[in-house]
Amino acid sequence: MKTVEEVRNDIPLTKKCIYADNGATTPVPVPVINAMNEYFLEYCANVERGTYSIALKASKKWNEARRNVSKILLNCGDEEFIFTKNLTEAANMVAYALEHSLLNDGKEQNPIVKWGEGDRIVSTIMEHHSNLMMWLRLAKHLNLDFSLVKPANDCRLLPELFDIVDEKTKFVAFQHVSNAVGTVHDVKKIIKRIKEKNPDCLVFVDGSQGPGHMPVNVKGLGCDFYGFSGHKGPLGPQGTGGLYVKKELIEKMEPMLLGGGIISDVLENGYSLADTYSKRFDAGTPNIPGLIGLGKAAEYVNEIGLGNIEKREKKLGRILLEELSRMKGIEFYGSDDDRGTITFNIKGWRSHDVSLALDEKNILTRAGHHCCIPLMRFLGIHEKYGGNVRISFHYYNTEGEVKKIIEAIGGLL
Ligand SMILES: Cc1ncc(COP(=O)(O)O)c(C=O)c1O
Repeated sequence: MKTVEEVRNDIPLTKKCIYADNGATTPVPVPVINAMNEYFLEYCANVERGTYSIALKASKKWNEARRNVSKILLNCGDEEFIFTKNLTEAANMVAYALEHSLLNDGKEQNPIVKWGEGDRIVSTIMEHHSNLMMWLRLAKHLNLDFSLVKPANDCRLLPELFDIVDEKTKFVAFQHVSNAVGTVHDVKKIIKRIKEKNPDCLVFVDGSQGPGHMPVNVKGLGCDFYGFSGHKGPLGPQGTGGLYVKKELIEKMEPMLLGGGIISDVLENGYSLADTYSKRFDAGTPNIPGLIGLGKAAEYVNEIGLGNIEKREKKLGRILLEELSRMKGIEFYGSDDDRGTITFNIKGWRSHDVSLALDEKNILTRAGHHCCIPLMRFLGIHEKYGGNVRISFHYYNTEGEVKKIIEAIGGLL
């Protein structure tokens, strides 16, 4: 286990400010930067192409990274794991494959979903635009019905809210953790309920705010697809992420991008894709240093202990919420459960003005709609406050920092 002090020493930014915007992205620890530097300085070569020694080393490290990331962050095998540049790309890859059948060896295969008249996609009003817009487009293109589940009053997605799923509902997409109010949903129970209603309904989970902040076991959750961002909880570099796809689906999944590095043969009138399914999604030279960095980041959070990270974030969030709840004039959003992300507004203040005032005290927070405009409107805070203020912790935040945040917010009332 790594101590908080050790992790803070690895992240110089933590000494310069109170960084409380981990929901947006995270600073990268020095060992992760070193792993990327090592690639640039010692074996900077393309992967899965060259035969010389440093090219082989690059490929080996890249494959190791895929194994580490899938195992540590999602508890799945690398054969069911696709590297992406972020959650947004992961969701778009799934949307693409739901609209286009796999073309391989010159033949069009059976589609992942056979859409019919009156079929429906379900999502929720809590989603980030990156887990909403592509499903809206898919529904439009295929002339499908589209429904949004609305959360309970405390912004929790309760399993019974998904009872609208029926035999016509072929796909559901929803989040693991809300970036806009911090709620951690009981994904396993929700998926169980969905599959009871329709065992053939496929489920995509937006895990942007999950892996790295807590242990995640995609097999145990029972989802068909689980996407995440590498540059948030896992402490990986920006431009990295991943997507778990259940084996029987990845075999039938059409890649969104075609090109070099993903084929077994190309003829004048067609092509055959790589036999290794997970490698059909790496067309073009990938973000090699970034993804090797993500592999190192997975090892790094694993050394801290994913359970330790979760426990600590919850503790910091609890202290903050308890203390702020004693003050008058603050509105909170999200459930009462312990969690590492707390969101609020101060009555009479625009959310951005609160964030700017906190910045003057060197406290970095996020304000606004958090790319969740439908949720902000649903909560009635889009026009009123311009969204809300978000404080999102990671393992390296301290109780001393929480105390300073409480004092600074108290000073604004
Ligand atoms: C819940 C959620 N979904 C999706 C995204 C989009 O992630 P990315 O920008 O890494 O694609 C975010 C980013 O804040 C998020 O918090």
